[in-house]
Amino acid sequence: MKKCMVIGEIMGTCLISFDVHEDSRGSLIAVEQFKEIPFEIKRVYYMWGTDKGIVRGKHAHKDLQQVLICLNGSCKVSTSDGKTKTEYNLKNPKDGLLISGLVWREMYDFSQDAVLMVIASDHYNEDDYIRDYETFLELVRNS
Ligand code: TYD
Repeated sequence: MKKCMVIGEIMGTCLISFDVHEDSRGSLIAVEQFKEIPFEIKRVYYMWGTDKGIVRGKHAHKDLQQVLICLNGSCKVSTSDGKTKTEYNLKNPKDGLLISGLVWREMYDFSQDAVLMVIASDHYNEDDYIRDYETFLELVRNS
């Protein structure tokens, strides 16, 4: 599991470890664009209620950058650049998985209480999706 070495690292896939403000009242994490999140934040979405056995994602993006944070529970994310496949186990809200560049991603093994939040660099745009794996591999070959 590659850790992001530099705050502001923009390409590839790596884990960002957020600072936690902890006191007797509990824990708090704040993330800001161009600080903990290395891009301008244009969209936030979250998913929950995904049963075990369900696989979400199964696509790549042409330009979009995203940070995935499992706010509650756990889930796994596999990423592939067409050559190397890596599995990330998101089980701590302190971890943000940065995915940028041409990366095929799948999310699975959601615990019953999992809430997965995604912070994205752009508005929803179906034209930015690559939903066919063969097309993805062809784009990788040509890039
Ligand atoms: P989908 O892309 O299938 O989710 P995932 O890849 O995470 O499994 O999206 C599910 C539905 O939600 C689909 O009808 C598109 C819609 N949607 C939006 O309207 N806006 C968004 O930002 C996202 C991510 C999805």
